[in-house]
Amino acid sequence: MNAPDPTKAVVVGAPRGADPCVMVIFGASGDLTKRMLIPSLYNLAVEKLLAPKFAVIGVATADLDDTSFREQFKKDLPEGTLDQKVVAWLEERVYFVRGNFEDPGLFQTLAKTVTDVAKAHDVPGNLMHYLAVAPGFIGTIIRQLNAAGLTTESEGAWRRVIVEKPFGHDLESARALNAEIKSELREDQIYRIDHYLGKETVQNLMVFRFGNGIFEPIWNRRYIDHVQITAAETVGVELRGSYYESAGALRDMVPNHLSQLLSLTAMEPPFSFGADAVRDEQAKVMHAAQPFSGEDVLSRAVRGQYGEGRMDAAAVPGYRSEPKVAATSRIETYAALKLTIDNWRWAGVPFYLRTGKRLAARFTEIVIQFKRAPFTLFRHAGADPPTDNRLILRIQPDEGISLTFGAKTPGTVMRQSEVEMRFSYGDFFGVQSRTGYERLLHDCMIGDQTLFQRADMVEAGWALIQPVLDLWSALPVRNFPNYAAGTWGPAEADDLLARDGRVWVGPTP
Ligand code: BG6
Repeated sequence: MNAPDPTKAVVVGAPRGADPCVMVIFGASGDLTKRMLIPSLYNLAVEKLLAPKFAVIGVATADLDDTSFREQFKKDLPEGTLDQKVVAWLEERVYFVRGNFEDPGLFQTLAKTVTDVAKAHDVPGNLMHYLAVAPGFIGTIIRQLNAAGLTTESEGAWRRVIVEKPFGHDLESARALNAEIKSELREDQIYRIDHYLGKETVQNLMVFRFGNGIFEPIWNRRYIDHVQITAAETVGVELRGSYYESAGALRDMVPNHLSQLLSLTAMEPPFSFGADAVRDEQAKVMHAAQPFSGEDVLSRAVRGQYGEGRMDAAAVPGYRSEPKVAATSRIETYAALKLTIDNWRWAGVPFYLRTGKRLAARFTEIVIQFKRAPFTLFRHAGADPPTDNRLILRIQPDEGISLTFGAKTPGTVMRQSEVEMRFSYGDFFGVQSRTGYERLLHDCMIGDQTLFQRADMVEAGWALIQPVLDLWSALPVRNFPNYAAGTWGPAEADDLLARDGRVWVGPTP
């Protein structure tokens, strides 16, 4: 079977069964495999979205073998009542290869295991490699896979590689990594994952905008005052201190997750839902973001770091007291930016982005704030000024969409109240127990790259924040920590909007 034509991929429609394949997971004993990949494979199997001819080979340095990895695999299945037939089906197609990713011998062993496993499960030669490893190993693994013939496609056998974030550390390293990978693989074999694109509500952005006739005509600078994109977290850095010390909130969330939300919100309608048509538009709008000058960084970018504080009434330590974090760390755990997009649709409409750890509530939301009514028709009657019309796309938790508008408060006086129309995913469709990775794994198995980042998109994300990274590293901050855990971040972030006569919105109750 030939690889499907990505330009014909369909995003909306009936699920298509996955192609038969062997999935090789590098980093099989790691956290991502445990929390996301294994539960997703189970969920896909329950929904009959895996091909009957399917097998998994875990690869890691951990001291495991087929039997102990199967035990591990079963422990990491989703919580709750499981379909034991599905568990048994999965168990009999799980294998393990132990080794060091830098050792060519590992890849010889892996090649042999792949041949044996493919034969045992009658898989025609399709291979999906999942690189759930530290970024330093990506280039090495791909080179070794290639050298061992494990990425070579032939008639009837596709070979694809899924790469996890972080994809590079800055623009230069992302370009170097892209160049390195692309010297070994074709772009249509590379699936750069951003788990935000696996979220139903993120995918819904496209359906909401382009599957309805009523929103697109007002989705522009004539009607929209500004846009806010927030990804607020209540967790601290947990046990990821050593990674976070080399990353920070800006690198961790903005070139990837927030850029995805930004590009899906701001892009032009694609001519089709084919992978390249959608990604061309996403890349285009990212390129239209006005680059920050040094001065812009000073006036339009805010950084923060949490100090000790209280979360749910319990005292929590400041960032500098977290495990594996330097006592004098200048790494930011909060970032806010004001962006503008230089194109006809968005000229003059600010996009405010913010993300942070240890904030007062967990929520990810896109707020489209419309311009107010042009004048107060009822002012002689002593009525309130026009209400803000806001469309709020709640990505998580309590996924849904709401619209605020003004309504007359009942009574003899002409008063106005802000009211809300709300759609809740949970109420309408029921709550789905999914990790978000199901869709992405399945898409890779059917060769649909729409929800994966192309090289130019990754680089555009980094290009957006590079001037901020440069200036922040050249001008070390002096006032950290500058917000208490459990609050809404540094006061400067409020000032960023207050200067424009605006305020941060949310979370919606
Ligand atoms: C990850 C970041 O990519 O996304 C984490 O590295 C962050 O720091 C996480 O917590 C947020 O993802 P979600 O799905 O919980 O919003």
